[in-house]
Amino acid sequence: MVSPKIAPSMLSSDFANLAAEAKRMVDLGANWLHMDIMDGHFVPNLTIGAPVIESLRKHTNAYLDCHLMVTNPMDYVEQMGKAGASGFTFHIEVAQENWQELVRKIKSAGMRPGVALNPGTPVEQVYPLVEGATPVEMVLVMTVEPGFGGQMFMPNMMDKVQTLRQKYPTLDIEVDGGLGPSTIDAAAAAGANCIVAGSSVFGAPQPGDVITLLRESVEKASSPTT
Ligand code: DX5
Ligand code: ZN
Repeated sequence: MVSPKIAPSMLSSDFANLAAEAKRMVDLGANWLHMDIMDGHFVPNLTIGAPVIESLRKHTNAYLDCHLMVTNPMDYVEQMGKAGASGFTFHIEVAQENWQELVRKIKSAGMRPGVALNPGTPVEQVYPLVEGATPVEMVLVMTVEPGFGGQMFMPNMMDKVQTLRQKYPTLDIEVDGGLGPSTIDAAAAAGANCIVAGSSVFGAPQPGDVITLLRESVEKASSPTT
């Protein structure tokens, strides 16, 4: 059985107070902290890298769920591992050729490998990675075009989530982009259990209430209905 993992996206936090923001989220019940690493090339935005992960790691034991929106993920494995990243999720669009080596390296650097797919990428592309000899341990289904927080959830991505959940009952399936109180039920019903939420959590008057609501929706959807 998969368990809910609620992962506030720190992209929507106050980066100037990252350690305090991380603590605040963990205290409010976050399971993971989602860290968006962007290189200004794979996506038209530039955010943070390994030095920031390394600094944050000194202030928290939380699981740092790192989402690499970069053109050359291989170049970052070693430094992200040393910095203290917990999960390393790369995009399949830039890893068609070398995903096997990449997954192996991520594991030997002590991180949990995940693969992400953009809205336009067919779900079939990740099957070999889930079924490989050295499999990824999470699939991230993007529910917006990557690059920015605060975009609209794309409900038609739920077909991908449903297909993955039917095929892989115990796989961690993450959704990222536009998740919040009005969209979580669709994602949870489709079978997502790892929920990234940026603006809906950080923009709420009571972020803890949103985290709780997200978790309850996933729990409700995954409990047996006898
Ligand atoms: C978008 C990032 C997301 C983003 C989500 O490229 O991968 O993690 O922070 O933000 P919201 O929840 O505001 O859509
Ligand atoms: Zn992300």
